[in-house]
Amino acid sequence: MKIRFDDTNLTAEMVGQAHGVTAAEWKVQQRRAPQVLRGFRSLVDHGQVGFPLLPFQTGAAREILSYARQVRGSYDTVCLLGIGGSALGAWALDCALRGPHPVQKPASGRHPRLVILDNVDPALVEAALEVMNPKKTLVLAISKQGATAETLAALLMVREWLGKKAARRTVAVTGPASGDLYALAEREKWQTFVIPRNVGGRFSVLCPVGLLPAALIGLDILALLKGAARMTEACWREDPEGNLALRAALLDHLIWTEKKKSVQVAWAYSNRLWGAAFWFRQLWAESLGKAKTRNGEIVQIGQTPTASLGVTDQHSQLQLYAEGPNDKVFHFWAIEKHPAEGRIPKARLKLEAFDYLAGRRLSELLEAERLATAAALTEAGRPNATFLLGRMDEEHLGAFLQLQEFRTAFLAELLDINAFDQPGVEASKHFTYGLMGRPGFEQYRARFRQYEERRQKARD
Ligand code: PA5
Repeated sequence: MKIRFDDTNLTAEMVGQAHGVTAAEWKVQQRRAPQVLRGFRSLVDHGQVGFPLLPFQTGAAREILSYARQVRGSYDTVCLLGIGGSALGAWALDCALRGPHPVQKPASGRHPRLVILDNVDPALVEAALEVMNPKKTLVLAISKQGATAETLAALLMVREWLGKKAARRTVAVTGPASGDLYALAEREKWQTFVIPRNVGGRFSVLCPVGLLPAALIGLDILALLKGAARMTEACWREDPEGNLALRAALLDHLIWTEKKKSVQVAWAYSNRLWGAAFWFRQLWAESLGKAKTRNGEIVQIGQTPTASLGVTDQHSQLQLYAEGPNDKVFHFWAIEKHPAEGRIPKARLKLEAFDYLAGRRLSELLEAERLATAAALTEAGRPNATFLLGRMDEEHLGAFLQLQEFRTAFLAELLDINAFDQPGVEASKHFTYGLMGRPGFEQYRARFRQYEERRQKARD
């Protein structure tokens, strides 16, 4: 397994002192490594954070595999109902390993297709119900809290659509014995898998939240865990040379806070990594966008993550990236050995704009464009780095996702913030409950009315 992190273009030598890290700054920053590791280790040792333990919990994976074997061949579609951390990991795995949408291989007994309903847009849900066959669909209702309005609303519709056999065709993945999803699953005797208490949504891809859909669509989840386990071992090393997550986090911290790069572009140079870039966007935003430090000091910090696709976004975002405000750091995500090469026919047309491409490979063009973009951004003084995966398979992806989770946790240590909560999303949730008439949230309905009155006054 090979994953590399090339940070040369983050240095002051390459992009200048105002935007890149000097040798002196790096020397001082590295001294923080032991403290960062100690801080995060203590959260794990005290049972507060569980994601680093997941790759070693192969018992849970074997239980999932046994269930997947039991139902294999009975379904052509796995329909996932979940949102945020309960959906994005599965999308990242499906897109990377079963193939990018909409050009995946057709569903087969061994590789059913995955349909993810992570929005309550009726256009999405109703269209999905039209194209799926209830007799050939296995439904996964995934919610850690077991009370998320979007997931439960879709579940009510899908349960009715499944008809009498709903209980046999529905699986719940939820927190341990809590929440109404768990209560319904118990009442209707659904197969249930448990999300460990100390594993939060966006850090849950390697527990049943991601592993169950992955196993059901035919991915090798033991290989995913194997790669993640190897990465986890590396992530506990003290030297930033051998610990890519720690090295990246120490550099992230300097580039963000000292070089004032308030935006990070996760630029996937592969359609297979497109889902993972969106998974990362949530991980970075919800974990690191915080009002307060762990001691309650108001800081209101965050680095805005955005996902771009190479080469497509060279024709959409690059103009802004190269010449707009120098407030961004770019992280290219690339694959060394592409699963497909895309041979371009050798035929020459005696037309200059065609002929230099004849006989080459699309993978060669993709790589040339990535390298060219990195060079152009570097010349423009824009700091950038590259994560390079040796190949695209379960082992590499498991390792890569685990690396990003550790990187996020380490950066939170450097910033002294809690990466594992999301208080900022509660207000909107509570207003929604109030507007939809959920008992116990009447005060939010009243608050919403006051807000509407203020708006009316502002308009008058
Ligand atoms: O990362 C998180 O914790 C969130 O994005 C949750 O995954 C999301 O809000 C869905 O929550 P739940 O799984 O409880 O339905």
